Amino acid sequence: MKAVVYKGPRDISVSKVPDAKIERPTDVLVKITSTNICGSDLHMYEGRTDVESGKILGHENLGVVIETGNAVDRIKVGDHVCMPFNISCGFCENCERGLTGFCLTTNPGNAGAAYGYAGMGPYSGGQAEYLRVPYADFNCLVLPPDAEEKENDYVMLSDIFPTGYHATELAGVRMGDSVVIYGAGPVGLMAAYSATIKGAGMVMIVDTHKDRLALAEKIGAIPIDNSDGSCVDQILDLTGGQGADRGCECVGYQCCDHKGHEVPNLTMNNLVRTVRATGGIGIVGVFMPEDPGAKDKLAKHGQIAFDFGQFFTKGQHMGTGQANVKAYNRKLCSLIAAGKASPSFIISHELPLAEAPEAYENFDARNEGWTKVVLKPEA
Ligand SMILES: NC(=O)c1ccc[n+]([C@@H]2O[C@H](COP(=O)([O-])OP(=O)(O)OC[C@H]3O[C@@H](n4cnc5c(N)ncnc54)[C@H](O)[C@@H]3O)[C@@H](O)[C@H]2O)c1
Ligand SMILES: [Zn+2]
Ligand SMILES: [Zn+2]
Repeated sequence: MKAVVYKGPRDISVSKVPDAKIERPTDVLVKITSTNICGSDLHMYEGRTDVESGKILGHENLGVVIETGNAVDRIKVGDHVCMPFNISCGFCENCERGLTGFCLTTNPGNAGAAYGYAGMGPYSGGQAEYLRVPYADFNCLVLPPDAEEKENDYVMLSDIFPTGYHATELAGVRMGDSVVIYGAGPVGLMAAYSATIKGAGMVMIVDTHKDRLALAEKIGAIPIDNSDGSCVDQILDLTGGQGADRGCECVGYQCCDHKGHEVPNLTMNNLVRTVRATGGIGIVGVFMPEDPGAKDKLAKHGQIAFDFGQFFTKGQHMGTGQANVKAYNRKLCSLIAAGKASPSFIISHELPLAEAPEAYENFDARNEGWTKVVLKPEA
């Protein structure tokens, strides 16, 4: 089969690799019809992880089941399914509590597994023609009858829609709240969308990219253009000097100042400054335990100079981590099916798998107009 293979920093190829196959009786095999490129893929693409050469990338996957293992009960050949990026068992202590992003079974010695990702277990990704799905009865979300018609909406259930929602849950967003979101990439836009769905009063979203801010404005968020580095002042002005009730971090360890220089503690400290005393902060942007590629001495070891004194004095709280996609994907799916949510509004490009190298290059450069790419292996 053809698949997107990581070769080295900024070097991926679409190569012929052995076909994905059923390896355990609890697996199914899915023919992939939509698979997105994610900001998380870019950390690997840029050589800022320890992902090994030869890894098949892709954790935002949707397709049709073409084969089922002997021990699979629920999932049938022909089902249209969307897979959470997390691979989870369903029976460990964390899965039992709904914390499927921290499964203790699927990546032994660690908490949490994923398709095609650095440090998340030996699983191949779905930027390919076929994907092996472990513990398929637990992991597959079977899509409604309009699966094909709304495929570009449903594929967002694999990661970024639930992840954006998770950011708002970690922050504690409730009806009427004011919310500030750092990062208007796909995840930040989905956090803004989720906050709006939850009935937030005012949603502000910070970035320097005008095309991304324009999408945020389309869904009713207030764009905070940080091109001049004034985002903190703008947010304090809009919130009577108090800061927002809730804040979300949707950028991660590679966050930059307005001139484009990496400053790993910038979004975290800006959140402390722009969330009100006793407010909540949700962090879904990825921070790595080790980052040898960082310029900053602390960041090399996954550390940041965090304004903890301010954070404590303001009595703020925060939640962090990978999204437990299964905690939200079924309900968010219902919103799409009912016509109440259409997360595909962020898609800028639908491309065949063969064009993945150009797509990675453009999305990585955050080139104007490249807000989200869906690869279509059948095209
Ligand atoms: N926790 C999870 O489960 C989960 C899931 C998916 C993605 N992620 C992570 O979420 C983050 C965002 O992903 P994405 O797909 O939206 O990627 P992205 O890189 O396309 O978007 C990030 C955006 O943040 C902006 N940005 C950079 N520095 C900033 C700053 N100081 N203030 C405000 N905005 C700033 C960039 O201009 C960019 O538009 C990544 O770290 C990704 O790995 C986490
Ligand atoms: Zn993703
Ligand atoms: Zn588990």
